[in-house]
Amino acid sequence: MAVIVREPVLPITEIEHSAFCRTDEPLTSKPLVEEITANVRWQRLPQRYMAMSPEELAGRIRDAKARLGTRVVILGHHYQRDEIIQFADFRGDSFLLSQNAASQKDAEFIVFCGVHFMAETADILTAPHQKVILPNITAGCSMADMAPTDEVLDAWDEIAETVGEGVIPVTYMNSTAAIKALCGENGGIVCTSSNAAAVFRWAFERGRKVFFIPDQHLGRNTGVKLGIPLEEMVVWGRFKPSGGLTRQQMRDARVILWQGHCSVHTRFKVSQIEEARRRYPDVKVVVHPECTREVVAAADMDGSTEFIIRTVNQGAPGSVFGIGTEISLVNRIAKENPDKTVFCLDPVVCPCSTMYRIHPAYLAWVLEGMLEGAVVNQITVDQETARYARVALERMLTVR
Ligand code: 13P
Ligand code: SF4
Repeated sequence: MAVIVREPVLPITEIEHSAFCRTDEPLTSKPLVEEITANVRWQRLPQRYMAMSPEELAGRIRDAKARLGTRVVILGHHYQRDEIIQFADFRGDSFLLSQNAASQKDAEFIVFCGVHFMAETADILTAPHQKVILPNITAGCSMADMAPTDEVLDAWDEIAETVGEGVIPVTYMNSTAAIKALCGENGGIVCTSSNAAAVFRWAFERGRKVFFIPDQHLGRNTGVKLGIPLEEMVVWGRFKPSGGLTRQQMRDARVILWQGHCSVHTRFKVSQIEEARRRYPDVKVVVHPECTREVVAAADMDGSTEFIIRTVNQGAPGSVFGIGTEISLVNRIAKENPDKTVFCLDPVVCPCSTMYRIHPAYLAWVLEGMLEGAVVNQITVDQETARYARVALERMLTVR
């Protein structure tokens, strides 16, 4: 028995739309190319797309995709809704999708159904003639936003100056291209949740200390996996002089963690795991490593979205899984494993609101624009930033 927690809402509602974009656009009969060019500044969606039924949107996406043929490749992160995932040529976690983006040498357009930092990464890894498109420009990541580039650069300068040689900057994929460039330029590297432990090992072969940005939980959970005691990991507090750390604390720490977190994954609590174990004594609890240390310690396993999917798919029929990750993915895993019981640990489920901003109406809009020669929401990274960010990403792609 698969447990489906919530069905997505379609078509796009006024409330949903107004939360993401400005809606003061009058209905218009201008040609699409003109409309798109006029709207791009505010990411307004032509009103007629808002009124389309789910069936009409799906038909238009299918048709536009077929007409674009090999000119377009659609990438879908696992947290995307089913109505988007059905059109993805590749679906995966952020590591797999960055590999996919790098290997699509022929496509003119890479439409990234995910969030901003993923599209930036795709732009860095693709060839100059390829265009990376994010269907809704407001699809960011609240965790990445907790690490503004200037703040991180200032912290890095102070840490490097205080501890001297031997500190390696490591950034989670969920960060700006400029932070990735900082890592590339300073002997550092990028990681995702599927290779964080291997990347930390890589870093400790080259230095004695890691400065990890921006997810303190992934950083702490990874440090613990490598046997680093909790007291040797300190948090660089935002909005505090010197991160709230003494010079001695900076020098002694093995890992300095940026004070960022994911608002979706920090909703999971140990009490939810206890409740799941009470209800299903045989439950296997699998969580994403962006969950807190306590939650990861109370779970049976933790890993990236790709790992979570694989673990459930390989489970024996009849097995029970309590999952700690984003709800669109948990629902999909449940649907695709009808012979197992799969449920979200959090009873008050919370989707990643920025991933959810990629509504089929936006996908239809950008694809139909391409057919008319209008490219909207292209994500570009300037060449200087891209050069060093690529160094850090390519290091990551070689780490096993
Ligand atoms: P994955 O690397 O597991 O795809 O996770 C990305 C992400 O944003 C999780 O919140
Ligand atoms: Fe960012 Fe969390 Fe959403 Fe992942 S789930 S994209 S970390 S806000």
